Amino acid sequence: MRAIVVKNWLKDPSDMEVKDIPVPKPKENELLVRVDSTGANFFDILLVQGKYQIKPQFPFTPGAEFSGTVVRVSRSDPRFKTGDRVFGSNPIGAYAEYIAVPSKQCFHIPSTLGFEQAAGLYITYPTSYAGLVLRANVQANEWVLVHAAAGGVGIAAVQIAKTLGAKVIAAVGSEGKFDICKAQGADHCINYRDNDWTSKVLALTDNKGVNVVYDPVGLVEKSLKCVAWNARVVVVGFAAGTIERIAANRILLKNVSVTGVHWGAYVRNEPERIPEVWKALFEMAENGKIAPVVYEPIFYGLDKAKDALKAIANRETYGKVVVKPADTPSKL
Ligand SMILES: NC(=O)c1ccc[n+]([C@@H]2O[C@H](COP(=O)([O-])OP(=O)(O)OC[C@H]3O[C@@H](n4cnc5c(N)ncnc54)[C@H](OP(=O)(O)O)[C@@H]3O)[C@@H](O)[C@H]2O)c1
Repeated sequence: MRAIVVKNWLKDPSDMEVKDIPVPKPKENELLVRVDSTGANFFDILLVQGKYQIKPQFPFTPGAEFSGTVVRVSRSDPRFKTGDRVFGSNPIGAYAEYIAVPSKQCFHIPSTLGFEQAAGLYITYPTSYAGLVLRANVQANEWVLVHAAAGGVGIAAVQIAKTLGAKVIAAVGSEGKFDICKAQGADHCINYRDNDWTSKVLALTDNKGVNVVYDPVGLVEKSLKCVAWNARVVVVGFAAGTIERIAANRILLKNVSVTGVHWGAYVRNEPERIPEVWKALFEMAENGKIAPVVYEPIFYGLDKAKDALKAIANRETYGKVVVKPADTPSKL
């Protein structure tokens, strides 16, 4: 099969090479999935450069999110049969025509979603649901400010907050992304590259401020200028590249709760919440309330994965960036 193979730390993802390698042999607890779509992530860029927290042994195939069709079932998990449409995640292996993956890391694709949409479901949606519901306890009619609202977790947060009945202010880094956020239900859009964006948020909320801030960027300090009494601020990530230090008096003044969400760590610390989160998300998907947004163009062919990662690095993308490994995958 064709797969991206990394044999040493790369200077840049543009150095990634596609090779012919054997199809992986699934273990007893694993499914073999013919990959239809691979979800590209910013951390793929770091992974192939040896700058990410996970450092796989060489040679390895990067890629953490995928959707596709089951071609070999696991003998230990009767939930899946050959031909099932699934999506899932694994630390590595998704930039390939086939992936062998523990069945517990896979789910059936909701009937309302296509392969491309499902490739971006596994990480972004539960992160945003856990952040907004488990951590911030968002209520109907509250104001929610979503930063990087056109990005992977951001769009998920906009859709979920609207489903919860909240009023959403979408904050992005260029006005070109306003239409995307509005199409997902955002009530208002602002550009956080404008110096006075916090005043705009205050004006939109009758000077009261927002009840919840969902922050994948690293904008907590500034956001505290436009929060309401009893606001909850959810720290999701640091897309801007800096980890902030917050003056604690700013948290005290408005009775603010600053909280974090680390979805990947629920499996270790609170596994009982995981089915609860997915049940809610599958219901929302089946009812048409949430639907992952796929960035156009889709990148056809593994050799185009480098272009997909370049677009992410250049901040050109919205929603989920998808790579299609092959139109006609290698025979088993
Ligand atoms: N806590 C968790 O469990 C969890 C789970 C998933 C992801 N995350 C984190 O959440 C963050 C966003 O992830 P994502 O998948 O939504 O990424 P993404 O789709 O690549 O979106 C990130 C967005 O951040 C914005 N941004 C603001 N400042 C930026 C800068 N200096 N450089 C690059 N982008 C900048 C960009 O939008 P604009 O151009 O509109 O500013 C960009 O599109 C990442 O830090 C990720 O590690 C956390």
